Parts: sequence; C-alpha cells; structure tokens
Amino acid sequence: MSRNSLNAKMFQTLKQKMAEGLLPQWVVTDPEIYVLEIDKIFGHTWQFLAHESELKEPGSYVTRWMVNDPVLLVKTNSGEFKAYLNSCTHRGTHLCTADFGKKKTFTCPYHGWSFNLEGDLIGIVAGDKVYGQEMKKDQWSLRPIPRIGIYQGMIFGNLDPNAMPLEDYLGDMKWYFDILLGRSDGGMEVRGVPQRWVAQANWKMTFENFAADPYHVQTTHRSTVEMGISPKDPLYAGYGHQVVLGHGHGINVITSATGRSAYAFQGMPESMWPMFERNLSPEQFEILSKTTVFVGGVFPNLSFVSPVHGTEGHLHNYLNFRLWRPLGPDKIEIWCWFMIDKAAPEEYKEEAYKGYIGSFGPSGTLEQDDTEIWARMVQASKGIMARDKTLSYNNVCNYLMGFDRVEPDETFPGPGIAYPTCYLDSLSRSIHEYWLELLTRDLPIDGGKNANELEITIPN
Ligand code: FES
Ligand code: FE
Repeated sequence: MSRNSLNAKMFQTLKQKMAEGLLPQWVVTDPEIYVLEIDKIFGHTWQFLAHESELKEPGSYVTRWMVNDPVLLVKTNSGEFKAYLNSCTHRGTHLCTADFGKKKTFTCPYHGWSFNLEGDLIGIVAGDKVYGQEMKKDQWSLRPIPRIGIYQGMIFGNLDPNAMPLEDYLGDMKWYFDILLGRSDGGMEVRGVPQRWVAQANWKMTFENFAADPYHVQTTHRSTVEMGISPKDPLYAGYGHQVVLGHGHGINVITSATGRSAYAFQGMPESMWPMFERNLSPEQFEILSKTTVFVGGVFPNLSFVSPVHGTEGHLHNYLNFRLWRPLGPDKIEIWCWFMIDKAAPEEYKEEAYKGYIGSFGPSGTLEQDDTEIWARMVQASKGIMARDKTLSYNNVCNYLMGFDRVEPDETFPGPGIAYPTCYLDSLSRSIHEYWLELLTRDLPIDGGKNANELEITIPN
C-alpha cells in the first residue's frame, strides 16, 4: 500500500458513488480512512461513556475508552459526574486500571502521585523534599475530558471543546430515547456490568447492522425461524417504520404485518402500562403500545436494541446498548449493557436478563450469527480487487434498497423522516453521508482544478 493514497479526486468519486446509492467496498477496511475516521469523526462526536445507574454513590467510578483515550468517570462528593483522561499527569501512566469501584483518591502505580475525585493532585511522594515549595500542584490536576453531556441518564463525552451541545447532536433521537429510557418512573438501570469482547469487524459495519439493517434478520438469524421462535414470513423484520434522524442517527420501529405488535407494550407487565402513559406523550405512548422491536443507533458507534423474547405468558423486554470501540480497520471491542426498567418487578428483571444472556453478548445465539457475518465482511474486503480505489473492478456495495422508490409516511406520529418499511437502505445512506461530511469537513473535495493532485494530509 502506498502511503497516503487519499486525494480529493478519490473523495469526489466516493461522493458520486454514494449519490448513486453505492458504497465503494474499499472504505470498509482501508487503513488510511481508518486513521482519518479516528481523528475527524471520533475526535469531534459525542461518545457514550456510561449510564448514571452505574455510578450510584459519591466516589463511584468506572473506567472507559473513547477509542484510544482512556477515561476515568467519577461521581464527585457533590453528586456531579466528571470525566478525566485516565492518565497520570506526571509521566502519563494509565492511572486507574480497575473496571469500576468506589474510591476517594486514585494513586498512580508508578511514582505514587494521587488525585481526588475533583481531579486535583493531592499527594506527591516526598513532595516538598524532591520538588521544593515552589511546586504548583494545581497545575498538575488530571486533564478533564473537554465536554460531558447527559440525556435520560446516558452520559456522553466529547473530545472537542467546541462541539455542539449533546442535546443538539442527539436532535430528534431524544424523542425516541424518551420512550426507551424515560417510560418508567425512575428510568432504566444497568444490571450487572457491561460485557465486553473483541471481534473481527469494522465499526461502521456493526453500527450500520444495528442501526439500519433489519433486512439481514431473516437470513443471518434463520435458525430462530427454524426453531419456531421467529415467524416464517421473510418480511417479518421489515414491518413498521425506518426513521432517519440526521447526524447519522436513526431507528427502526418494527411492528408486524398488521401495523401493531402481537405483544402490547413489548410484553411488559400490564401493571406498568399506566406508568408509561403518565411518562410519555400520547404519540410516544401509541408507538410504544404497538412496537415489537426498537433497533437503532447514535452515530458514530452507539447502537441499541429493545426486543421481545420468550413465549406467551413468559414474554420479556429489555434494552441492550452496545458500543463499537474501534481497535483498527478490522477489529473492534464490543461493550454491551443490559438495561431494564428500575420499576419492573424483580422476578421480571431476572427473567429478562436470562433472555438477554441467551440472545446477545458473547454467549448469545443471535450475537454468534452476527459476529460470524461481520468477520466475513472484513475478511472479504482486504484483497486487491476489493481495495481498488479506482473502482475498475466495480467494487461497490449495494445500498439501493428503496432508492428513489419509497416515500416518507407523513402520518407517522414521531419526528424524523419515517419510511413505511424497515427493509430499506435510506438510513444506511444517511449514515454514509454524515460519515463523509465529517471525514471531509476541511478537505477541498468539491473544487480545485487539480483535484487529482490534492493530497489529503492524514495524521500520523
Ligand atoms: Fe504517575 Fe509518575 S507516572 S506518579
Ligand atoms: Fe443481527
């Protein structure tokens, strides 16, 4: 591979192909694109850190990653959430390596500097003796993650101090988050700790799989049909609405052929329905009443699914959030949270958790199906033909489902552009557009006589 083969002409071609409903296959695993993505996308967008139920008391902390930036998220004595680069200000050592816990101070394992919950440097081994009185401790506090934002208990961080506010970034997704996270008194809670594991996959493809691709369900998860868990109708995951929300976000609101779900309120106990009505607007309540599965994503790498599992009389619903942390163009670390309504009966929560463990996460049957496919996508996208940026092998992926054929449904009660089917590539195309917009924000891809020669500078 030649170093820095990205140029403005190539981006123009990419944009043109995307306008035709096509995505050149080389973008899946291209190492140079990957470096740009980390800098231009992950350096400026809101990334999920934790749900506030994971940090119950002052002193509670969790450690997370924003791609390669280690993050220490704490609840301070005043109950505020603060996030720091989890790197000691003395020599940069990874400060806290525990996954979670409760502490008043964090002591570095290298030379023993210690920091309090406010990030202040409060202890230096042999302090005055080795540094003298003039050492200004307040200049060596932990470095805060530039921006923190919270919506419906979901805590996000942003590495760009000038990023738009979280609520603006989420936009219309907030309306759907209100249904998913705010329907019950007390909201949702994380049960257990997030499971995490490494998979061979590209982060864009996993994000898109959850956010925008119910079409895969009847083939990839064919075994559920064969076992009689899912309907035989090949269109079954396509009924409902695919909603494009902007900024690369979107949601599929999946019902059944009748436009309603066979399971009212996703099989949640009937005793909870009045509470849903109290906490939601009439339109949100209506959508919740007739939806079987909500599945979608917040760009760039947070996905969610809220399904129904079980059999009649033993139905359960839960909320699974998952973060696709890029580890390379063909490798991700998956973080997977199980959430359930705090107000649900304890027995129901336990049963729902078992349903989740059997379906998603490293032991889940549905997860195995998807993981195999994600690996195959990157395995088959690394060769000479797939990686050819001139597209002389016609190495483009097909995003033509519903292209120019499916019109939005103006009667859908929620915000966003809602299309009357979930077997559709509209949301995928919207994700790609935002991806390219961020990737090329400062790049001269739309003008210049010598576009062929315009080299794109990629960070080292
Ligand atoms: Fe942390 Fe030296 S690197 S105390
Ligand atoms: Fe799947």
